[in-house]
Amino acid sequence: MKDSKTFWDNSAQRYAKSRIQDEVAYRKKLEITQHYLQPDWSVLEFGCGTGSTAMVHAPCVKEVLATDISGNMLAIAAQKAKDAGIGNIRFQQGTLESIHPPAASFDAVLGLNILHLLEDPDSAISASYKALKPGGVFITSTALVKEMNPFVRMLIPLMQVLKLAPYVNRLDKEDLLARLSNTGFRIDYLWQPAAESVFIVARKQPHNCRLFSGEPSSLSSDGL
Ligand SMILES: C[S@@+](CC[C@H](N)C(=O)[O-])C[C@H]1O[C@@H](n2cnc3c(N)ncnc32)[C@H](O)[C@@H]1O
Repeated sequence: MKDSKTFWDNSAQRYAKSRIQDEVAYRKKLEITQHYLQPDWSVLEFGCGTGSTAMVHAPCVKEVLATDISGNMLAIAAQKAKDAGIGNIRFQQGTLESIHPPAASFDAVLGLNILHLLEDPDSAISASYKALKPGGVFITSTALVKEMNPFVRMLIPLMQVLKLAPYVNRLDKEDLLARLSNTGFRIDYLWQPAAESVFIVARKQPHNCRLFSGEPSSLSSDGL
């Protein structure tokens, strides 16, 4: 985790200047996300990087808590938001787990280009679930390293040794969907812009409307 912070702190300036690889796919993800967002919503983003996506969505919601492990990323993000006159984003440094977001307090949690970087994605998925209000949505865009071109996959360990690549896990789509569903999410929307990436909107189920659980004890077939 410490290595991850150092890697991203050292990458912040370069990341801020990098171009979006697939502009069409990025715009589609923004559009789908905004289809869900509501003006009275509180949104939590973890791994927000230099804040570009938080800044796009902030005018559509009440408030955004944008978080990241890297202080250098957040410093750039906060300056960008200030320069743009966006006042409803609060920035906080840390991982989702260390930040301890209050339970059931957010309408949406965004985890964009981050789940594949985590040693324990289940922990972030379950922290997102806890932070969401019933009926809230977890929106994630994730690289699927297992589905990448074998040549690229072979290069990753070498790049990691040279400190040119961060830790990455080996999630595939089915694995990610199973983890989301085991946590209690229902998939609301799924789009694969490419074989090696997936964009998902997963919903925390609203409170169960059933008053009783288990087998009815006193109802016979003509008991109603
Ligand atoms: C690939 S960048 C994505 C940034 C942004 N979400 C985007 O889509 O442009 C990954 C970001 O996740 C952050 N990060 C890496 N590990 C993290 C962790 N465990 N908790 C929170 N943020 C983390 C990095 O500092 C970096 O800003």
